[in-house]
Amino acid sequence: MARIPQSFIDQLLERTDIVSLIDARVSLKKAGRDYSACCPFHDENTPSFTVSPTKQFYYCFGCGATGTAISFLMEYDRLEFRDAVDVLAQAAGMTLPTDETDDKPTGPPRAPLLEAMQRADRHYRKALRNSPETIAYLKERGVTGDMARCFGLGFAADAWDDLTRRMPDKKAASEAGLLIERDNGGWFDRFRNRLMFPIRDTRGRTIAFGGRTLGDDKAKYLNSPETPLFHKSDQMYGLYEARQAMRDLPRLLVVEGYMDVIALAQHGFPNAVATLGTATTASHLTTLFRHTQEVMFCFDGDSAGVRAARRAMEISLPVMRGARRVRFLFLPEGEDPDTLVHGENGREAMQAAIDAARPASEVLLDSLTDGLDLSRADGRAELIERARKPINTLPPEAFRAELIGEIATLSRLPADDLRTLYADGGQSAQPAARSASTSTGTSHTAAADEAARVSPITRALALLLADTTLAAQAHHAVADLNDHDNPGAQILAEAIDFFEKNPNVSVARWLERHRDNRFFSRLQTLASQQPPGDTEQRAAEFNDAIARLSRQRRSRQTLRQRYNALIAKQESGPLDAAAAQELKDVLSQLQGDIET
Ligand code: UTP
Ligand code: MN
Repeated sequence: MARIPQSFIDQLLERTDIVSLIDARVSLKKAGRDYSACCPFHDENTPSFTVSPTKQFYYCFGCGATGTAISFLMEYDRLEFRDAVDVLAQAAGMTLPTDETDDKPTGPPRAPLLEAMQRADRHYRKALRNSPETIAYLKERGVTGDMARCFGLGFAADAWDDLTRRMPDKKAASEAGLLIERDNGGWFDRFRNRLMFPIRDTRGRTIAFGGRTLGDDKAKYLNSPETPLFHKSDQMYGLYEARQAMRDLPRLLVVEGYMDVIALAQHGFPNAVATLGTATTASHLTTLFRHTQEVMFCFDGDSAGVRAARRAMEISLPVMRGARRVRFLFLPEGEDPDTLVHGENGREAMQAAIDAARPASEVLLDSLTDGLDLSRADGRAELIERARKPINTLPPEAFRAELIGEIATLSRLPADDLRTLYADGGQSAQPAARSASTSTGTSHTAAADEAARVSPITRALALLLADTTLAAQAHHAVADLNDHDNPGAQILAEAIDFFEKNPNVSVARWLERHRDNRFFSRLQTLASQQPPGDTEQRAAEFNDAIARLSRQRRSRQTLRQRYNALIAKQESGPLDAAAAQELKDVLSQLQGDIET
């Protein structure tokens, strides 16, 4: 799908007012310069949901929901990015650029491709009705006629041109991945002798196919290639059907295969989806959380399953906020959901597996402590180091506090000290940090305490996003920041440059430029912070953070060595107060800022 040009998004946000957009759905009350309401994304009785007209941005202190007008529509109306932009554009009297009118042509127009898909879909279904062997295959695998209809199953004949000769627009059909062009001219069918699974978008349009061989082809499953209609890293098989089956989806099960989705639906679990021969991506997960509060990953109990679970954990942590939950279900060795539900008492066995699924926190703790001897100081130090990355990717909410508590118990370090080490990002409910040993030169205010706890990059970004006029005084630092090996520094440099050139532009517009950035959700959270202090204090703090960044020359290598030396020393006996303090300082300097 062609990208929507940034200039269009810019104009759209310029013409959209987030306050009236949200007010039409959630009634807002004026509160100072901002507006507030009870949060529409979690249950509450006192309003902690705020909409800022200047930033063109909303945030909730209760559940951490946050974003721009586009994000709001995606979350509240459960729309895909493009559809949310479409709705806003219509309200703003703008027309979404079609592929034909894009200033940079990025692909063929979609309509003929969709048309080819629809035609192929009809043909494959009809072919299935006329293929007793395929119907027998489905029966043998326990798939009912009802399910075959519900999932629109079809059959691609064992021939080179069965579909080709039925496609009037061969070029469109080959761009849609249905036909393959021969070197010497002409076309042939991509899918031959296969059971066909249409892959539909959330509006129910077929955008791709998966095909399972009915013979002994080496490729058991063949999927449509990437096309202008189909990006497999965004798409989940079965999501459309799950939404049709259940208006509200309290949970979505993520399984591996097409047949798993269908078998589960047939046995009373219509809420399963599958990735298409790839690992689950962050983009998949974002899509799923638009439709449900709980994602349950189902994995095989073997080592590949455990590896896949580790990856799933990594992509889950940054998006775990509010009422969202992630659980992991490990199936008995050698089973997949399809075989499990078809076994004796299959439905009960599956339900039992669902009930026994483990919360992400438990699975994470297991992997963090795996192989460590926590009765030894080096084991405990290693745990603290291992936990840093996951903890810093978690939004500052209940789950994060819980995890810090667990690590504190296991590592025998007070939770408060851990928070200092992990340089807590801000919003979590906790007493102000203990006085810190940095010489920032600022007077000892709550703001200074806060500043000592978070990295200068994070701090500077939060301050800048709270008051974008600060950019004007930081121009000199841009080159230096761009040299920094930390990607966070580069984002900061880009933000300074952007707001310096565009002093009157909302934070929302800056944010929308970073929607594809892997730190996007972290940036949204930073933009929703309200640093304490008056304008002058915040400016001083900002300049101080920038100055500290410029001074920061000690390499991570040196810090690592110092850290190892101190840990070795700790092995042979308790550290004295100075060494203990140094260990903490070294640990907090090793923190990779926004990166970790
Ligand atoms: P499996 O090999 O576990 O297949 O692949 P399955 O779902 O159990 O298939 P049946 O039961 O033998 O029919 C799981 C998923 O991995 C992808 C498909 O999406 C499949 O559903 N896959 C597998 C491929 O894309 N290509 C392949 O060759 C194999
Ligand atoms: Mn199977």
